[in-house]
Amino acid sequence: MALLVWLITGASAGIGAALVEEIVRRGDKVIAANRQVGQMADRASENVSLLDLDITSGPKVIASKVKEAWQIFGHIDVLVNNAGTFLFTPFEDTSDDEAERIFQTNVFGQLHLTRAILPFFRQRGSGTITFTGSNQLSGNMPSTTYYNMTKWTNSSLAESLRKEVSSLGIRCVAFECGGVATRLFEPREKDKIGKEDKSPIEAYVPGFTAASQDLGEWGMPPGDPAKVAKTMADVVKGEGMAVGRVWSSRIALGSDSLRWWKIKRQQEDVVMDRWEDVTLSTDRDDAVLSDKLDRFALIAGAE
Ligand SMILES: NC(=O)c1ccc[n+]([C@@H]2O[C@H](COP(=O)([O-])OP(=O)(O)OC[C@H]3O[C@@H](n4cnc5c(N)ncnc54)[C@H](OP(=O)(O)O)[C@@H]3O)[C@@H](O)[C@H]2O)c1
Repeated sequence: MALLVWLITGASAGIGAALVEEIVRRGDKVIAANRQVGQMADRASENVSLLDLDITSGPKVIASKVKEAWQIFGHIDVLVNNAGTFLFTPFEDTSDDEAERIFQTNVFGQLHLTRAILPFFRQRGSGTITFTGSNQLSGNMPSTTYYNMTKWTNSSLAESLRKEVSSLGIRCVAFECGGVATRLFEPREKDKIGKEDKSPIEAYVPGFTAASQDLGEWGMPPGDPAKVAKTMADVVKGEGMAVGRVWSSRIALGSDSLRWWKIKRQQEDVVMDRWEDVTLSTDRDDAVLSDKLDRFALIAGAE
């Protein structure tokens, strides 16, 4: 495939940093974006340009950053919506500031970036938008409710948006990663907001402790950031493992991700069957279902 220009958010660490390395190794060009990009100064090179971008800075700032980014190499082929944060706390015990913060980072930041780049991609008639999603979609661990909600949006956005933009030459994909050995689970000093000095709600302590123990016993996450990056690059470029495959808007990465997908699928069948008569009880008496509805249910790549 031709050499590409990538804009990657959250490029300072973990999966984003590994992807920058992988892309440069393939000869592509990267705009590596992060808040406090000064900390990455040593990574700038002829093929790596740095962009100071806090994805919580709102639609206007983000739109002007995308414009600036577009001018660096004259265009962008791939937007990697990768920056994200984690939150491990019971739902009710989460402060409003923490809840807002994770949505600003994991949801609105990605929406603003995606909306800002779409006019450029439309004009060019091509572009790829990726989201670093999560297998929390299939796992839904307790005490990670906010994180889970945000990561559902990544997959949902990739799947729905693709149906709107594929005819315009634009592709979307959510990589639904299992656990990857990064610093995601270590709280960042700069993300510590709104956690007042208050004791946890007693009622949730046993559940939270059990979830923490489960996580501890889980051990090191199976995912290798370098391998995740390599596979993402293969998929976007249609190279290596992705040669000849039909594009999909959702791809699970990691053996744990696949295991959760499979368990969840079986369980969904059980629940659907168990409740089927209840499910069917709410239609109007004269309702007729159009076959056309079926196409909205399709995951691109399943055909
Ligand atoms: N690791 C996993 O197990 C796993 C599993 C599924 C999905 N994911 C997803 O993968 C993505 C990357 O995470 P990772 O595992 O590589 O974790 P990571 O090592 O913690 O990297 C997260 C990156 O996002 C950046 N970031 C956070 N808030 C930001 C903001 N407001 N503006 C700009 N950049 C910001 C971080 O920058 P700083 O260095 O400045 O904090 C860092 O570069 C996330 O979306 C995460 O949800 C990870």
